[in-house]
Amino acid sequence: MELQVIDMKESNRRETKLARLISPQKLPNHVAIIMDGNGRWANKRGLPRIAGHRAGMNTLKEIITCAHDLGINVLTLFAFSTENWKRPRWEVDFLMRLPQEYLQKELQSLMEKNIVIKTMGELKQLPRITKNTVREALQKTKNNSGMILNFALNYGGRHEILNAVKAISEKVKRGILKTEEINEDLFDGHLYTKDLPQLDLLIRPSGELRISNFLLWQLAYAELWFTEIFWPDFKKEHFLEAILDYQERERRFGGIHKL
Ligand code: FPP
Repeated sequence: MELQVIDMKESNRRETKLARLISPQKLPNHVAIIMDGNGRWANKRGLPRIAGHRAGMNTLKEIITCAHDLGINVLTLFAFSTENWKRPRWEVDFLMRLPQEYLQKELQSLMEKNIVIKTMGELKQLPRITKNTVREALQKTKNNSGMILNFALNYGGRHEILNAVKAISEKVKRGILKTEEINEDLFDGHLYTKDLPQLDLLIRPSGELRISNFLLWQLAYAELWFTEIFWPDFKKEHFLEAILDYQERERRFGGIHKL
């Protein structure tokens, strides 16, 4: 218990130190997180995987509050991928119940923070109860004007790109669009993220160094930040570290170093 208090004090000191170093003028507009490592976190403690997912859900509050307090405009969170259906039925069922559990607990606090909830992915395939809860939250927060909290639910980057290709080809076929008119902006306009600012920073906890079919098009010039920490252990200090690291990078977008 005493050790825990010392740890917390140390962590608070680190947070304060990091927060002071952050420059409000150089904040990323749009940050995305792959919330990974829930299963391994649970396994290390001899707990079932679902305990890891619940602990992962509990991490959301601190990170959303931190992003909101800093003034980040969009926070995109990978909650369920098109590939996650391959998991055992009991785990999928549990993951499908989490949005309801989370929103029941947190919707009021998100409203107080003036947060707008959005989603990206194929909501159609989700169980009715999950869809209804999510749609209700979208509806309730749609007139808010603060940070956008964008949940990727049943999302896959390749699927998103294929959908855009299909929609664009259909327009060409019907004569609404000419092939010569297809450019990056037009393509952007057919993605789930069409109304969001460009992605600046991707954070992936858990030590995996891959993208896992997340935001494939949008990641073209985003900065990547990886940490070994499992998502349930991911704290405000890690989020601040990622932002600070982002602020120290030189983004050249294919151009050259300015002398
Ligand atoms: C990946 O960890 C995590 C997921 C597939 C689920 C992420 C979901 C949450 C953190 C809760 C989200 C809550 C809401 C409200 C939508 P993993 O299971 O792949 O971990 P492992 O690689 O260690 O097995």
